[in-house]
Amino acid sequence: MSLIRDLGRARYAAAQGARVAWYMSQYLLARRISGPFNRPGEPKFEPQAPEGDTQRIRAAFLKLFAQDRANIEAGLYPAPDDIRLERAIAALRSSANFFRDLPNVDRRRLERDGTEVREQAKGEGRYPTYYLQNFHYQSGGWLSQDSAKLYDTQVEILFGGAADAMRRIALGSLARAIRGTDQRKVKLLDIASGNGRFLRQILTALPRIPATGLDLSPAYCEEARRRLADWPQVEIVTGAIEQAPFEDESFDAATCVYLFHELPPRVRRDAAREIARVLKPGATFVLADSIQTGDAADLDRMLEYFPVGFHEPYFTSYLKEDFAALFGEHGFEVEETELAFLTKITRFRKR
Ligand SMILES: C[S@@+](CC[C@H](N)C(=O)[O-])C[C@H]1O[C@@H](n2cnc3c(N)ncnc32)[C@H](O)[C@@H]1O
Repeated sequence: MSLIRDLGRARYAAAQGARVAWYMSQYLLARRISGPFNRPGEPKFEPQAPEGDTQRIRAAFLKLFAQDRANIEAGLYPAPDDIRLERAIAALRSSANFFRDLPNVDRRRLERDGTEVREQAKGEGRYPTYYLQNFHYQSGGWLSQDSAKLYDTQVEILFGGAADAMRRIALGSLARAIRGTDQRKVKLLDIASGNGRFLRQILTALPRIPATGLDLSPAYCEEARRRLADWPQVEIVTGAIEQAPFEDESFDAATCVYLFHELPPRVRRDAAREIARVLKPGATFVLADSIQTGDAADLDRMLEYFPVGFHEPYFTSYLKEDFAALFGEHGFEVEETELAFLTKITRFRKR
């Protein structure tokens, strides 16, 4: 038994180590070839963390993988199988696309131009203004198919290969909450499902769960439908959470990964109200998003760097938002909170 466990650990360490090396080396290369952060005449912004911070960041990073491995050993979800030879070509192609696009990202960063996408959406009139941003200075904002395909690689490079592991900790929280329940009876809503990355992780662990993804981007929804075609019970709906296109009390559980830091404070409130409306009494809600000021004091400096380096116009207000109070107003109680490197996972239960 312990031999099987040891083999599992060794395989996990080798696969995740290779994955981290792959993305981290691209992060370092991107940093090296990227242009300067500072604009002439503006105060200098120094993104380099001091040595002590670097060590603490490394410790938090390693702890994430220990948490992930513990969840796998607890049977909450299977070990990831993303290191496969047949995926190598696709990974190389995505990286090539990332580096091809890097000069555009760099130019927007240097010019602090985070709303180029508004030109692209001109005349469409169906998107709220707060949404028309080149978040992370990415090309196409949320509106293009290229962006939907490149997103995972961009995010993994940004987090040095830790993004999927952070999402899996949120999956672990969901799996703990519904353990012992027949998954076919848990109607799940994944809010801001994007290109389907997190839903895919959920469905790999809970293959019969009836899941709906909701996202405002038609291009990301299309990509999610393509990626989730193996699970016929899954539906992807295009729409905004603050005007959720669902009946009252339609879902037994909801998840929401990396959305709230991209919403202005007013919209966060509308979204919380709608989440409460569409969930049944007793439902589970797993919220996963960036850690906030004071969650991990050692990492606070890194949080200051994020909105400057990656165009996140609502991030500074997000850092101070009290989500226990915000969701508490709508009848949610906090059941558990867990930090996973730069992500905080809070699980609520609707009374
Ligand atoms: C940072 S991505 C997160 C995607 C995904 N959950 C993940 O784990 O990576 C933010 C996503 O939120 C979507 N989004 C932003 N505002 C939204 C809103 N008001 N309603 C629904 N989706 C929204 C965007 O289209 C985008 O796909």
